[in-house]
Amino acid sequence: MKTITVTASKTYEVMIGPDLLASAGALASELVKGLSAAIVTDDIVGPLYRERLAASLKKAGFRVVSFVVRHGEASKNAENYFALLNFLAEERFTRGDTVFALGGGVVGDLSGFAASTYMRGLRLVQLPTTLLAAVDSSVGGKTAIDLIAGKNLAGTFYQPDLVLCDTSALATLPGEILTDGVAEVIKYGVLADEALFHMLKDPVMPRLEEIIARCVAIKRDIVQRDETETGPRKLLNFGHTVGHAVEALSNYAISHGRAVAVGMAVVARASSKKGLCTQDTAEQIVNLIGSFDLPTATEYSAARLAGAALHDKKRSGGSITLVVPEAIGRCVLRETPVSALEEFIGLGL
Ligand SMILES: NC(=O)c1ccc[n+]([C@@H]2O[C@H](COP(=O)([O-])OP(=O)(O)OC[C@H]3O[C@@H](n4cnc5c(N)ncnc54)[C@H](O)[C@@H]3O)[C@@H](O)[C@H]2O)c1
Repeated sequence: MKTITVTASKTYEVMIGPDLLASAGALASELVKGLSAAIVTDDIVGPLYRERLAASLKKAGFRVVSFVVRHGEASKNAENYFALLNFLAEERFTRGDTVFALGGGVVGDLSGFAASTYMRGLRLVQLPTTLLAAVDSSVGGKTAIDLIAGKNLAGTFYQPDLVLCDTSALATLPGEILTDGVAEVIKYGVLADEALFHMLKDPVMPRLEEIIARCVAIKRDIVQRDETETGPRKLLNFGHTVGHAVEALSNYAISHGRAVAVGMAVVARASSKKGLCTQDTAEQIVNLIGSFDLPTATEYSAARLAGAALHDKKRSGGSITLVVPEAIGRCVLRETPVSALEEFIGLGL
């Protein structure tokens, strides 16, 4: 098992290893005061792992209740958010009690937003069951729900009290959902860890614990420097400006991981054509993405991609912050005038 300590507005541990769901009760009871535990999960993860978690929590003395949503992004909505708040109130949860988010990023974001706002903040334990949630959404404290006008438009920064990543639970992930997470892992490699990048040339599953730990350590280092994304945390958006545009233009038919894969490939090619990195660096990035059967190209035009990207909430004023790879393991932030974005994307298509 690997443990990584995050010191942000809250200090907490991220534990990564096999069979952690079975010890979740004992580990959580060391941290939390209240006796009530609400397991929030979805209708795919629930039947697989809810019972294991509930048994462990009961054994540690918790009163356990469960709130189950339908799987998929559409569940990260205002209706489920209010239903969860009302559920916690009906179950008489108070500030010392704990929400256990058991699932992927959808469950994690919804649970985190509810936990951060119910009575101005409950205890929160994240138990990620997708690779994407393990390396990204369960750590760092961003919570959100989607509004009709767009994704993640209502949310908070709210760090969890504990993150337990049971690597055994990732064994049931369908291949496509696993590779969505791999896109984010590739991102971390390009961003800050050349060894991780090369590790991905071998099978991922046997080295899951180490791969997740490396990603979490990178995210930890960045979040500790900039918890609320005013500066360096923007580095975590490598591939995401174009990625969000691809996702939005496809009306979310293209998954987040696949869209980010396209985004990273486009930016890598554009960066090499602009002389910001070598052609070899760009080719290595594109080839690694392609080796997982993740897409490296899109049929959307540069004009449409730039238009959609500029609707993204991460734009500020007359410029947009792009994350540019200088080498494998090193990226920089580059303020780019909004007027130059279309040309830049066009170079990478
Ligand atoms: N908060 C953040 O910092 C952050 C970062 C990145 C992404 N996100 C958010 O995360 C969400 C995407 O997360 P995701 O990719 O985990 O999607 P998800 O939560 O929808 O999970 C994907 C699918 O996998 C299933 N599943 C989950 N674990 C499983 C398991 N162990 N075995 C079998 N099936 C399993 C789920 O039921 C679901 O159908 C998006 O809403 C995105 O906005 C948040």
